[in-house]
Amino acid sequence: MLIKTINELREYLQPYRADNNTIGLVPTMGALHNGHLSLIKAAKGMCDRVVVSVFVNPIQFGPKEDYNKYPRTLDADYDLCTKNGVDVVFSPTPEEMYGKGFILSNDNLTYVCPPFNYTDKLCGKSRVGHFDGVCTVVNKLFNIVQPNFAFFGEKDAQQLIIIKKMVKDLNIPVEIIPCPIVREASGLALSSRNKYLSEEGKKQALVLSKILNNIKSCYDKGIKDVNLLKETAFSFLNDNVELEYLEIFNSETLEPQEVADSSSRAFIACRVEGVRLIDNIKLGA
Ligand code: PAF
Repeated sequence: MLIKTINELREYLQPYRADNNTIGLVPTMGALHNGHLSLIKAAKGMCDRVVVSVFVNPIQFGPKEDYNKYPRTLDADYDLCTKNGVDVVFSPTPEEMYGKGFILSNDNLTYVCPPFNYTDKLCGKSRVGHFDGVCTVVNKLFNIVQPNFAFFGEKDAQQLIIIKKMVKDLNIPVEIIPCPIVREASGLALSSRNKYLSEEGKKQALVLSKILNNIKSCYDKGIKDVNLLKETAFSFLNDNVELEYLEIFNSETLEPQEVADSSSRAFIACRVEGVRLIDNIKLGA
């Protein structure tokens, strides 16, 4: 079923909630791929009712980012969801979520702002305000759907860490279920933004997973010094790949580390053909 308004969704879910059915939410911005499908399958396995939200959230895009050109494929998304047993696709308009004639500014909208220590690095450094927009919309979706479980991919690891922190700090009654990164056979992490890449660009983009796998194998061989681990990336980089960041941080707190250990995760962002791609790998078991 496709639902576009908050009231209709609440009415639809109310009897199931009254019957103590468990509700799972898979928040997405659409352009669904096999990565999203893995979230849907995890939700189907754990919940009586599954809601997939499809909403390209304007307030998490910077003024120079790809909000207008972000792929919008609702018909295909809806087909994929119904074929895979999703009960509701919730696809509101920006006006439904933020009010008629809304103006995107901190002057007229209550934002949820995650702590600076979690947002002043990695994607948050170049995408100022991005995680305020993500936390605000995810918090709204939690309030609208009131799910028991919500499913997020580990590909957006900083987002996942920040959402877990928000849920803990704000005592939101939902359990966050992290789902592993899904990759093409080549190793490329699935992303809606891969659609922007040419075939050649997709080959160049393999540099991200190659760098991460190499860091992981160096770590497994006993190299724990973070600077040495990061230096191993240089031999993979070339003029077609613009490195934005490569960091090794604590996987839960995002604190920088000098010596990697089982809590560490390596995070990378690069631009290939002008497309910003991210990936990460956990170093410990
Ligand atoms: O990961 C995404 O697709 C988005 O950031 C999310 C969580 C759906 C919020 O808009």
